[in-house]
Amino acid sequence: MDFIPIKQVLTSKLEGKKVAIRGWVYRERKLKDKIFLVMRDVSGIVQAVVKTDSKKAFTDAQKVTMESSVELTGKVRKDDRAPTGFEIDVDSIEIIGRAERFPITRDKSEEYLLDIRHLWVRSRKLTSVFKIRSTMFAAIHEYFRDQGFYEVQAPIFTPTACEGGSSQFKVDYFGKPVFLAQSWQLYAEALIPSLEKIYCIAPSFRAEKSKTSRHLTEYWHAEMEIGWGGLEEIIKHGEGLISHICKRVAEEHPDDLKELGRDPKDLLKIKPPFPHLKYKDAVQILKKDKVKFKDGDDIRPVEGAAIAKHYDKPFFVTHFPADVMAFYKSADPKDPKLALGMDLYASEIGTELIGGSQRSLDISEMKAKLKRDKEDTKTYDWYFDTRRFGAVPHAGFGFGVERCLQWICKLPHIRDTIPFPRTIVRTEP
Ligand code: 4AD
Repeated sequence: MDFIPIKQVLTSKLEGKKVAIRGWVYRERKLKDKIFLVMRDVSGIVQAVVKTDSKKAFTDAQKVTMESSVELTGKVRKDDRAPTGFEIDVDSIEIIGRAERFPITRDKSEEYLLDIRHLWVRSRKLTSVFKIRSTMFAAIHEYFRDQGFYEVQAPIFTPTACEGGSSQFKVDYFGKPVFLAQSWQLYAEALIPSLEKIYCIAPSFRAEKSKTSRHLTEYWHAEMEIGWGGLEEIIKHGEGLISHICKRVAEEHPDDLKELGRDPKDLLKIKPPFPHLKYKDAVQILKKDKVKFKDGDDIRPVEGAAIAKHYDKPFFVTHFPADVMAFYKSADPKDPKLALGMDLYASEIGTELIGGSQRSLDISEMKAKLKRDKEDTKTYDWYFDTRRFGAVPHAGFGFGVERCLQWICKLPHIRDTIPFPRTIVRTEP
């Protein structure tokens, strides 16, 4: 008999029919004359009942432990008392891998669960998040490819900082120091005269010493870069990307989203245009709402959340003060004290999901900013060549996959968006 996904058992179509399923024992309860096994596979859960009259099956089921992997056959019966409305009356059961006493029980601490993450990843909650994560990656590829972008990769070992030296991981490269990539961007800019519209999804590494619920030291970064375009174009792509992700995830995972406390209908409402504010308008909102904030500072999640109260969609903030911005951001020709950059913040929680900018074409201006940041401008010589040989206006952004997943899945901490999180305090398992 062919095995079917558990989800298929949960429809009236198979009532009274014999089926074969395989999965893991999610819960088990042994009574004198009956054994209840709640079976789990990637698609769902269903309760199986083994009675004494199915003699061999009953003897076999007695050896079953929680989280053992099992194959079984039996007849489907509708039962409103069962956890998912249907039960399987078992007539044969085979233990594939008998589990030792499973170490995870209800009362375990978050830290303990992180220590045995390799067993916790099979939890129903994490399985739902990982399914949504998979669709999110597919949606990113779909969006960019539909828009005519080429996918292209850049090295992870790099000689230069993109986002400031203080958050770089230094690696010993045959006796020479190199750094793990913080961003694909500088290489992407060199690829513009080749491919013009490009994107990539890759890990980025940040040695930020911030122990927060939004920072990973290794995260997945979807980045894009376009030639012949500027701030306006990347804002359009930011809106397009986020709304495509929300739509695809809502369509494919309504049940997983509901389990996580997210109404899929909320996500279907996330459509362009999103609100756009200039930094100075954002400051006004914060002042009016009496949020403590120093004009000129970056917008952190506290301020992001305060602004988010005014909107029901993610929102952009543009035209930040150039002083605090990365060296590669173009100054606004109308007011050089401002940078042609944008950040997109999530609705509800106000976390930054996207950071992007129009790129500067002015080598001396960039050198001055690198000196401001105490960087060695010589290591950027290769990058300045991209401005010396047929430069065109160009712009791009980076999107934090886990930040977006945290927002969509309403997760209090970013670590649950990725199977094996790397944070300032954790590199194991
Ligand atoms: O704003 P960031 O630092 O921008 C860049 O790296 C640009 N070079 C991107 C570009 O223009 N191509 O990072 C972009 C996004 C942030 O908006 C955030 O969503 C995410 O990356 N991010 C992190 N996500 C998880 N953990 C961290 N430590 C993150 N740091 C940034």
